[in-house]
Amino acid sequence: MGARSALGRGNESFLEVQIRTMTVFTECSFDRSFPPTDRNMIHPNQALQASLDQALRGFTQEASSDADMQELCSLLSELQVTSNKEEWDAVKATCRAHPLFDIIQEDPLSRRIYEKPRGYAGDARMMDLIYKSEQPRGLNDVGQRVYDFVTDRQCAHGARARKMKLAALLNKTMVECDAPEILSVACGHMREAQLLSTNRLNRARRIVAFDQDETSLAEVSRSLGDCEALSLVSGSVRRLIAGRHNLGTFDLIYSLGLYDYLEQPIAQRLTQVLFDALNPGGRLVIANYLPNESSGFMEAFLEWELIYRSKQEIMDMAGGINDGAISSKSYSEEHTGTIGFLELTKLPARAVAV
Ligand SMILES: C[S@@+](CC[C@H](N)C(=O)[O-])C[C@H]1O[C@@H](n2cnc3c(N)ncnc32)[C@H](O)[C@@H]1O
Repeated sequence: MGARSALGRGNESFLEVQIRTMTVFTECSFDRSFPPTDRNMIHPNQALQASLDQALRGFTQEASSDADMQELCSLLSELQVTSNKEEWDAVKATCRAHPLFDIIQEDPLSRRIYEKPRGYAGDARMMDLIYKSEQPRGLNDVGQRVYDFVTDRQCAHGARARKMKLAALLNKTMVECDAPEILSVACGHMREAQLLSTNRLNRARRIVAFDQDETSLAEVSRSLGDCEALSLVSGSVRRLIAGRHNLGTFDLIYSLGLYDYLEQPIAQRLTQVLFDALNPGGRLVIANYLPNESSGFMEAFLEWELIYRSKQEIMDMAGGINDGAISSKSYSEEHTGTIGFLELTKLPARAVAV
């Protein structure tokens, strides 16, 4: 996986990372006179334990928690890429047995990510908490600090930037295309569309909101109720790939927060299906998380496992499409550099006919 190759340091083993990071944690937690030759005797869990204790102190005492939590996040991301499965499972078990785990759960966003009340990771209500569109209710001080920490990570800023980028693209499409047809795949609450006025949205011939979760579609219907162009489709990626949803063709198709869960063969097949559903000259935009410093924390504490792709892996999602049908293929990132975007445009009608 991309994260492993992008974050690992050569062939360093789990134990070697633990030992190297010990040099950081010995500053505050261990005897400074610890002889280097004895380091091989250190239990591999010790550096992690020290970092967990330090982060817990940061949250429960009045001191600022961010630096200690950030240290822990960095350590976890390193361990994630240097550990084998058994070692990483042990890291996760250590995190979940530590009192810091209960502190993290005081934050409703973290608790929702971990508990997955809709039965899957990454539901739209969770995205609303990341978007900070409303302040979570009933938070105690510690919960507020955890929420502030989690929503201040680069990847959370990235999610908000992703939404803004798509709102801008929707606006551009409404201005540049005459009565465009638009499809959002795995739309969630489709918050990016709600940043445009109803008048602007109604310039579209149709805006199709596609998602597996009918509760989320009900919220799209409620919040975009004045948009006459809106149509809701409840369906799955599996059925879309199997050709069992006849949605027609579109000038803009985009998908945010879905591909991070799709293995590469499925991602490539879906990209092909969506590209085929473009009108001539139409545009397909797909987002995917890049390896980042929060991935270890997210997996260890929140059981939120994403597929982090490198730029090349994101570009390769178009691997199943005939190059001759593509007018342009580009890659970009939002300003935090945690999310990459693949953008494909289809040849215009005249060029296709030649
Ligand atoms: C992380 S949310 C992203 C929502 C929205 N696009 C956004 O950016 O805020 C992922 C969405 O993908 C939908 N989803 C996940 N797997 C799906 C599948 N196999 N078929 C259709 N929708 C799916 C979920 O229901 C959820 O609404």
